Amino acid sequence: MTARLGSLTLPNPVLTASGCAAAGRELHQFFDVAQLGAVVTKSIMREPRSGRPTPRMAETPSGMLNSIGLQGPGIESFIANDLAWLVAHDARTVVSIAGSHTDDFAEVARMLAGHPAVAALEVNISCPNVESRGQVFACDAIASSRVIGGVRRAADPAQPVFAKLTPDVTDIVLIARACADAGADGFSLINTLLGMVIDTDTLAPALGGVTGGLSGPAIRPVAVRCVWQVHRALPHLPIIGMGGIRSGLDALQFVLAGAAAVSVGTAVFGDPTAPVRVLDELTAALAERGFASLADAVGIAHLDGPARALRLEPAAAEAAAS
Ligand code: FUM
Repeated sequence: MTARLGSLTLPNPVLTASGCAAAGRELHQFFDVAQLGAVVTKSIMREPRSGRPTPRMAETPSGMLNSIGLQGPGIESFIANDLAWLVAHDARTVVSIAGSHTDDFAEVARMLAGHPAVAALEVNISCPNVESRGQVFACDAIASSRVIGGVRRAADPAQPVFAKLTPDVTDIVLIARACADAGADGFSLINTLLGMVIDTDTLAPALGGVTGGLSGPAIRPVAVRCVWQVHRALPHLPIIGMGGIRSGLDALQFVLAGAAAVSVGTAVFGDPTAPVRVLDELTAALAERGFASLADAVGIAHLDGPARALRLEPAAAEAAAS
């Protein structure tokens, strides 16, 4: 189950999704977070930030909306408290970083350079809960390129940089290519989709921030589509897939589409043990299909029928051919 994400190797492919498990402490009551491939922390900014007005969450069919607004303690407190806690608990850590301006991202990356606990950076250029759409950098190829280029130059060369993209664009491959050209080492796909709920009793938007990010199983087909498209266009760059994963078979869809690892997010609100359960289920699902390793399954859905069958164990190949 080793996950190979370019220069980053993780013992297994199941990670938390940024924003759904803070820095891992809460989940640690339910399982040892060192069991995960990595903990992906809530996006951290240069300065402390209080986020958007409440209410910040609303249930939706097969999902939820959040409008947190990048609340966080700022990078200095994060390093002193959260990162220190993760180190003390032997958790591999992918730090999600965010910024209001291009330079903010690079500064946060610089402050994390050389930190032995930081396995990689996830650059959140796609948070929908910002003051203006102009701050959703991942909606624009040039803005994406500037942020990712700045982070890649500022970051520790040993810390791979994953660009987290939004599906709220006409052509996600265009944005992915711009990030790749700017030095992204891989992608996290996808962030939430911009959505809105109106409370029919109060006749007003349900969220204090009016709009929010839609996550959960409702967005899974969109996420699988994005992983598929980006893997097809840039097969040499690793993808961490996410969006509505709540079972091993959900995770397997992402792997077959081209993800080398997956993040489990919204599912933890209903089942805090979801990440380790998904890992167990994915492990079993790969074995049942005759895959000798996780790597053998990555992107397999892109192959044509006979080529796909050849990658399976003989018995399964025979069944697929008949
Ligand atoms: O509002 C938030 O903090 C969410 C961030 C995100 O979806 O990237």
